[in-house]
Amino acid sequence: MKPAKTPRRLRNWPVHVLLIGLCLVWLVPAFGLLVTSFRPFQAVNDSGWWTVLSAPKGQAEYEQNCAACHGPDGRQIAAADLTNPELVQNFRRSFTLIAALKKDINDQPHMGTTPVPNEQAAADIATYLRRLSGIDAPPRFTVSNYVDALVGYRGERTYEADCAAAEQALDLNCDASDLGNPRGMGRAFLNSILVTLPATILPILFAAFAAYAFAWLHFPMRTWIFALLVGLQVVPLQMTLIPISRLYAQLGLNGTFPGIWLFHMGFGLPYAIYLMRNFLGSLPRDLFESAYIDGADHWTAFWRLAVPLAIPAVASLAIFQFLWVWNDLLVALVFLGGQNPVMTYQISNMVTSLGGGWHLLTAAAFLSMALPMIIFFALQRFFVRGMLAGSVKG
Ligand code: HEC
Repeated sequence: MKPAKTPRRLRNWPVHVLLIGLCLVWLVPAFGLLVTSFRPFQAVNDSGWWTVLSAPKGQAEYEQNCAACHGPDGRQIAAADLTNPELVQNFRRSFTLIAALKKDINDQPHMGTTPVPNEQAAADIATYLRRLSGIDAPPRFTVSNYVDALVGYRGERTYEADCAAAEQALDLNCDASDLGNPRGMGRAFLNSILVTLPATILPILFAAFAAYAFAWLHFPMRTWIFALLVGLQVVPLQMTLIPISRLYAQLGLNGTFPGIWLFHMGFGLPYAIYLMRNFLGSLPRDLFESAYIDGADHWTAFWRLAVPLAIPAVASLAIFQFLWVWNDLLVALVFLGGQNPVMTYQISNMVTSLGGGWHLLTAAAFLSMALPMIIFFALQRFFVRGMLAGSVKG
């Protein structure tokens, strides 16, 4: 008897569950990071991002102990309007509040028959009163973490608050020139782009030339040279740091952009050549031969035939090389350092050794994720196709 056919959709359920699980594992922390990056730093320091939509701190305690007389909004007793900042100013701390609650009003206990709240509850209520009265009531969401990270503000408050108060925040000028502050992510973003674009385009361009030569030109020792190049992939990057930085010191390339472009090019080329050669080599031979018979030289065949056909391979290489250079810290640290800091370098400087300042870190991390994500989604079509590039030989 033939077994009943399960619908295709149901047969794949383990795969779907796995995929959804993987997405959640990735999305939940990313979402938490995003939410945190928009929370004011006071809130980041004392509660988790998942509490953003819950009632503000102390509201429950207030409603339980005080709302009966003072009303849900704190305005019910005109003589003691709890939304009045001048009144609440005197009760910022739990002990002053407890003292007031213990004092009799017209020879009656302040709170009537309800017991005076304990220290912790009083502290929470004091926090809530500050929020009610508008003293020190940070908004639920703010962009100030992003602003602070972009201009590189490292003070106790926010760049905006400091600028509003003194028209000068630490060593910043409070105008657009702050975006160029070498300690800020704004400048680092520019540096990252200056490093990454050439370090992505140059290796792929040269790899394409080399790959064409290995695939369609005939010259002595072709396979040997190719094998040598493929073998170069095993050279660990760390091993070359010292020799190359000594060489760069002699050439005056330390701390310069060309230096880091050359380094990334050197380490990007072997794999890029390998992948491109396999891709170009798998294109139909007849295609190139008929082009040569029609009188095309190699230059024309390269630009008119090989490059357009190799777009999927180029795109996937470009994505990988871009991500690698963009996220690289080691090479940037050794060859650029603090002279032209890139985003990864700047992020690593955001948190203090005591773990403070990580509200800035969340914003900085998101800033550095933004461009790769945009590029990934823009090139996603090529990405899937290109992953297979070179894996099948025609
Ligand atoms: C039984 C009713 C009642 C309850 C419960 C109550 N209050 Fe009051 N509270 C009053 C009255 C009445 C006054 C106004 C006294 C006056 O006329 O100055 C007052 C005054 C105050 C004042 C001003 C005191 C001053 O010295 O100026 C503060 C602050 C205050 N309440 C906070 C609270 C808080 C916080 C709670 C909850 C933990 C609370 N109250 C619970 C009745 C109450």
